[in-house]
Amino acid sequence: MSLVKLFICVIFVLTFAMTSAAIDKKSFGKTPDGKEAFLYTLKNKNGMEVEITNFGGCVVSIKVPDKSGKFADVALGFDSVADYAKPDPYFGALIGRYGNRIAGGKFTLDGKTYQIPQNDGPNSLHGGKVGFDKRFWDAKDSTDASGQHLHLHYLSPDGEQGFPGNLNVDVTYTLNDKNELSIAYTATTDKNTVLNLTNHTYFNLKGEGSGQIVDHQIMIAADRFTPVDATLIPTGELKSVAGTPFDLRKLTLISAHIDDNNEQLKLGLGYDHNFVLNSGGKMAMAAKVVEPASGRVLEVLTDQPGVQFYTGNHLDGTAKGKGHVYKFRDGFCLETQHFPDSPNHPNFPSTELKPGETFKSTTIYRFSVQK
Ligand code: BGC
Repeated sequence: MSLVKLFICVIFVLTFAMTSAAIDKKSFGKTPDGKEAFLYTLKNKNGMEVEITNFGGCVVSIKVPDKSGKFADVALGFDSVADYAKPDPYFGALIGRYGNRIAGGKFTLDGKTYQIPQNDGPNSLHGGKVGFDKRFWDAKDSTDASGQHLHLHYLSPDGEQGFPGNLNVDVTYTLNDKNELSIAYTATTDKNTVLNLTNHTYFNLKGEGSGQIVDHQIMIAADRFTPVDATLIPTGELKSVAGTPFDLRKLTLISAHIDDNNEQLKLGLGYDHNFVLNSGGKMAMAAKVVEPASGRVLEVLTDQPGVQFYTGNHLDGTAKGKGHVYKFRDGFCLETQHFPDSPNHPNFPSTELKPGETFKSTTIYRFSVQK
């Protein structure tokens, strides 16, 4: 073999070895019924790391640098699967079948009325009593030039939590070298059904456990939002944000209006509302959050028509993890989604999925810094 050929071979083998580096997998403890969960660590060339468990598909940690290169974990979370198995605030979880609320836990499809569990006052929240966040997902990992991937699969059987149809759900988390964590969702069904999939990560760009997030600045690319009633079910109106605390179209300190004397903010105990994205279901920037002291920036891109901006108003100090007690407004969520209670609002974008169709959606959480 000529030297040139040998050189090419060595380069090829090295490139392959670098791009096919295996993903770390370790035990994450056992659920109370004795089943072991695993923790997968995705890494990129910039030193960013994301830990995800196959229980609930929960994002357990996200380590990203600040403007001086110092890493911090910006996701609220727990130390072992036992805490994720308890009724918890859905830290980092994959949410389904129906993210957000369904009024009275009731909807009608093809003339038939379905009742799903009412686990949030009179309503159903995040898929019922045992949602996708409390299920074990089959996991496979892979690495290629586009990044490190964790492929999760869950078959939600016909009738689970009262929803019709066997629903096959695939979710792929990818961490790439642009410091983007993307979540690609695919689903198929064998009966007409409804679905609304999202991820419920709570972020604190100062680092989890560093207090309230009200000193972050936020922009949401939405001219309208969906006001809610006293049980946080949308009234059906798509209301203009103009002249309200919901006008976040330019970077605004979260604290600027969160405690305003505003009926909607009182109902949510702060922001807990679905914003109607101007992109109307096309892949685009939905939101941007800046934490001025650390310089950390989070941008959220999605092809979903809505995003729930939730400022952790129900965190009350009972959730403890990673050596911290998580209190009121210590994290925020940007849950990309279809609108809450869509099955009961024909004027909202449809959440129906029929046999033969494939639901596909992608959301990207992109991290960077500004000096
Ligand atoms: C909802 C909140 C709810 C929280 C539960 C959010 O998606 O909008 O109202 O309290 O989930 O952790």
